[in-house]
Amino acid sequence: MRFLITAGPTREPLDPVRYLSNRSSGKMGYAIATAAAEAGHQVVLISGPVNLPAPAGVTIHSIQTAQQMWETTRELLRDEAPDIAILAAAVADYRPKFQHDQKIKKHQDSLTLELERTPDILGSMRQPFNFSGLLVGFAAETENLIANAMDKLQRKHCDLIIANDVSGSDTGFDTDQNEVILCFPDGRAETLPRQSKHDLARNLIQRLTALAFAIDKPSS
Ligand code: CTP
Repeated sequence: MRFLITAGPTREPLDPVRYLSNRSSGKMGYAIATAAAEAGHQVVLISGPVNLPAPAGVTIHSIQTAQQMWETTRELLRDEAPDIAILAAAVADYRPKFQHDQKIKKHQDSLTLELERTPDILGSMRQPFNFSGLLVGFAAETENLIANAMDKLQRKHCDLIIANDVSGSDTGFDTDQNEVILCFPDGRAETLPRQSKHDLARNLIQRLTALAFAIDKPSS
C-alpha cells in the first residue's frame, strides 16, 4: 500500500532570525514511517524541521511552514495517490500576520504580535483535496481527551483519531514512550497500553492496513 505521513513541527517566521514553533520532536511520525517501510509499504514523509535520521526506504519532503506542508500534501496526494494518510505533524495553528524583512530591534518596552490562522491540512484532506483513502489524525489534548478527539474525528471526516494526553511530562511531545486512545467513527474508544513509539508504530501499521482492507478504502 501507499502511505503519506506528515511529521514534526512547523516553523512560522517572524523575521529573518525568529520563528514560532512547538515542542514536537517528530519521533512518532518518523516511527510510523519507519514501521510502514519495514512492512514493505511505499512511504512518502512530509517533514518539518527535526533532528532525526531519515528512515530507510522512505521518500522525505522537507518543509518549514504550515503553508508549505499544505501545498506539498496537496501535490503528493495528486502525484502519489496514497491509500492511507497519517497526519502526525504538530502544525502551528497560527503564524505571524506580518513577516519583517529585517531583524526586529528592541526599540520598544513591549511588542505585540498579530497572528493569523494557518491552513488546516487535516481539515483539507476530504475537501478541497478530495482524498478518499483511509484518513488518520492525531489529537494532542490537555483536557476532555476523548470528547475533543471524537469531535475532531467528525469535523474532519477521519477514519481514526489517535488521541494522546499531553498534560503529563512522560508521554506525548518529545518522549520515547506514548500512551494513546484510538477513537473510531462509531464512537468506540480503545486505550492501548503504554509502549515505546516504535512498538506503537508497528502496532498502528498492522491495524491500519487491516482496516484499509476491511473497509475497502484503498484506491488500487
Ligand atoms: N493538523 C493539520 N493542520 C493544521 C493543524 C492540525 O493537519 N493546521 C492536524 C495534525 O497533524 C493532527 C490533527 O490535525 O493530526 C490535530 O491537530 P490539532 O491542532 O490538535 O486539532 P485542531 O482541530 O486544530 O483543534 P484544536 O487546535 O482546536 O485542538
